[in-house]
Amino acid sequence: MAMHFKRFLGIFVVCFLTFSESTVPSGCSYDSTDSVGIYTCDFSQLGFPLVYYGFSPAPQRLKLKNINGNLPGSGTFSGFSSYSSASFDTNYASSLELECITSAAASLTITGTTFSGMGYVQQLKIKNCYTSSFPTSVFSNIIEVDSLIITGGTAAGLASDSFTGLSIKNLSVPNSQSLFEMSNTVLPGGTLPANLLSGFTDVKQIVLDNVGLTSISASDLSSNTMLTYLSLKHNSFTTIPSDLFTGLDGLNLLDVTGIDWDCSCDNLWFLEYAITNGIEITEGVICNTPTSYLVKPSKNGVSDACQFS
Ligand SMILES: *[C@@H]1O[C@H](CO)[C@@H](O)[C@H](O)[C@H]1NC(C)=O
Repeated sequence: MAMHFKRFLGIFVVCFLTFSESTVPSGCSYDSTDSVGIYTCDFSQLGFPLVYYGFSPAPQRLKLKNINGNLPGSGTFSGFSSYSSASFDTNYASSLELECITSAAASLTITGTTFSGMGYVQQLKIKNCYTSSFPTSVFSNIIEVDSLIITGGTAAGLASDSFTGLSIKNLSVPNSQSLFEMSNTVLPGGTLPANLLSGFTDVKQIVLDNVGLTSISASDLSSNTMLTYLSLKHNSFTTIPSDLFTGLDGLNLLDVTGIDWDCSCDNLWFLEYAITNGIEITEGVICNTPTSYLVKPSKNGVSDACQFS
């Protein structure tokens, strides 16, 4: 009897080990340190398409690295449409990260069908890529995300309709952010394409840090009426238009660190506006002209020369 039990136990252990192993497509590796592991797939070693059933456990967190070239439309991801959020480990958001090879010439080519069937993705990040084109509605197959982050690289070919069909909103993920971020990215032209962000009517945080903005206009943000946090750090503009925050009634935190403000009194309209509308400005405002000085948006600390009524 004891013999039989031991043999049974042995079989059981073997089965358990077999089932807990991961299955990884060639070119990918699996880091199982966390309860929901991260698959990292090396673009230079991958055979496309990446097939959903080639991953076990399911690829809730997936990163493609060393990208330099095409993510073929309709041939990059296969079978992912059967991935249901009901099967997620709710301790993590589902995430997809595309990271280009760290070389000046590295490029990413995506098409309108690259992300077909990828509606399961809740966080999307594109890192260090020279993205030559963001075609019309390129992310619409992802439908909605908690965050879209474009960081590093160059966002060439961004157009008014690039983000059409994608929503950014609080999803039920841990530390939900409702965030659009573009940071440390070259934005050719120095301005946002008209209406680029206008589809993001539920977005709560917008970060446009160090993207070389030479100006920003009210219409860039006028549809983002749920906004609570706006960061415009380290850009090239020196003034902001006096209607920039019109309609953004929930805005409560503004970060303009690293802006070389032109502090003529008219240009400082936003200091009084911030007080009246309950907007905290982190780190205050550093004037570049007429002289270098720090002004804080407090009622009497604006500047002796600019007393607002
Ligand atoms: C939604 O996102 C904001 C940050 O943008 C966060 O402060 C808030 O807690 C989130 N709400 C939920 C319900 O997760």
